[in-house]
Order: sequence, then C-alpha cells, then structure tokens
Amino acid sequence: MGEEGVSDTPKDDFLERRRAARQHIDMELEDGETLAERHAFFDAVYEHAGHDPAAVPWAELRPRAALLDWLGHLDPARKQGRAIDVACGLGDNAEALAAAGFDTVAFDFAERAIEWARERFPESAVDYRVADMFDPPSEWIEAFDVVHECYTVQSLPGHLREIAPAAIARLVKPGGRLLLIARFREEGSEASGPPWPLMPSEVALFEEAGLRTVWRDHYDVVRPDRAIPHVVAEFEKP
Ligand SMILES: C[S@@+](CC[C@H](N)C(=O)[O-])C[C@H]1O[C@@H](n2cnc3c(N)ncnc32)[C@H](O)[C@@H]1O
Repeated sequence: MGEEGVSDTPKDDFLERRRAARQHIDMELEDGETLAERHAFFDAVYEHAGHDPAAVPWAELRPRAALLDWLGHLDPARKQGRAIDVACGLGDNAEALAAAGFDTVAFDFAERAIEWARERFPESAVDYRVADMFDPPSEWIEAFDVVHECYTVQSLPGHLREIAPAAIARLVKPGGRLLLIARFREEGSEASGPPWPLMPSEVALFEEAGLRTVWRDHYDVVRPDRAIPHVVAEFEKP
C-alpha cells in the first residue's frame, strides 16, 4: 500500500503505526476489481483504523499542498458557487474548499470515513454525504462549479478505473472546473498498487469525457527515502 501522508508530530509513533497498518492492509485485505470488492476494501481500512488516522495511509490530516496552491492562485471572483470533493476520506480537502468560499459537498462511499470527517470537523460548513461516485444523486449531475478529485482514480483497478473519469466529469457544470491531483507514471510502466499511479492515457480520459485541459503540471512529493511523481491538472467543461 503506498504511503501518502506523514505526520508532523515527532513526539509520537505515528509513522510506526502507519507502517503497521500498511502491512496489515497489504497482508490481510483482498484487493478485488469489482465495486463491491473495492467498497469492502475501503470499509475494512477505515474499520481497522478505529480512531487512529495513522492507520489510514492516505490521511495527511491537512489539505493537499497542490489544492492549497491552486486555491491560493484562484481569482477571488471565482471563489464562489458550489464545490464537491470526490471521495473525500477524512475531509481535509473539503474543509479547504469551504474555507476558500465554496458552498461545499463532500462524499465518500465508506460510511466510516464520512462519520469520521463529521467528528473531526463538528462545526463544518461542509455537507458530508455517503454516496457512490458511480451512482450519485441525480441533483449532483452538472451541478458544481468546482469538482476536486484527489487520489481516487489511482486507488481503483481495472474497469472501475476506466469509467471513473467520466463519472467524475459529469459532476462539473458547463463552464465549471475540475482539479485533478494524482500520482503519475510513464505510459506502460508497471505499478504494484494500490495505488496505481495514472498514466498519460488515463489523464486523457478526462478529455474523452468532454473536458478541456486548462493547464497541467508535474511535480514530486518528496519523502525521506524517495520522490513520488505526481500530476496536477485543471480541466474545464465547455
Ligand atoms: C486513496 S483515498 C483518497 C481520499 C481523499 N480524496 C484524499 O485525498 O485523501 C480514496 C477514497 O476513495 C473512496 N472511494 C473509492 N471508490 C469510491 C466510490 N465509488 N464512491 C465514493 N468513494 C469512493 C474510498 O473510500 C477512499 O476514501
């Protein structure tokens, strides 16, 4: 299981607990390619974590730097309207969208993730909902000025991964934007996920789903032992 988050808390054994949880996930949990299998996988991660975010490998407990950077450069006139955080996990990215001024919905199909996000942010303005990206409420279709997708597509194997970009793209309003943040790998290179970083042809699936690339950039998330290639891209629905 890939490590996404690290703690800034030097005094405890956060990294040790994260390593143990990743080992448990790698050894004990079935990956599976169907929606039901992925759902069971993520439920099992959150259940096993109990109340310890160290045991949720992607939980950074702060918004992603690339999202904050994007929000920081956004024209103030565009910091309004509705935003949705796709597969929000423990909620930090959704909170950043709401703090920037968006009327924000955030969803995840793991009930425990949503319960946990609500516990972490009891005063939140975010509307946290349990929902499946592949079967969202009909009122969410083409309803959002900003759609934020971080690390979900890369967490899916097989057919789900092929259909996820279109499922996400249909939440974007005409004229609205999608921000994609993901690990990245060269076309055709091997990946031993989860996560399975996105290849250029998989980033292109967002265009095949009717979006236009506004800009795209590549960067590394630097860990003490390695640099993890990432892609960040903004798309617009014409
Ligand atoms: C790797 S985590 C990323 C979480 C969050 N976006 C972040 O940046 O920390 C992937 C999340 O996707 C959720 N997920 C996977 N498939 C989903 C689906 N079909 N509908 C809703 N949530 C889904 C999982 O429960 C998990 O919380």
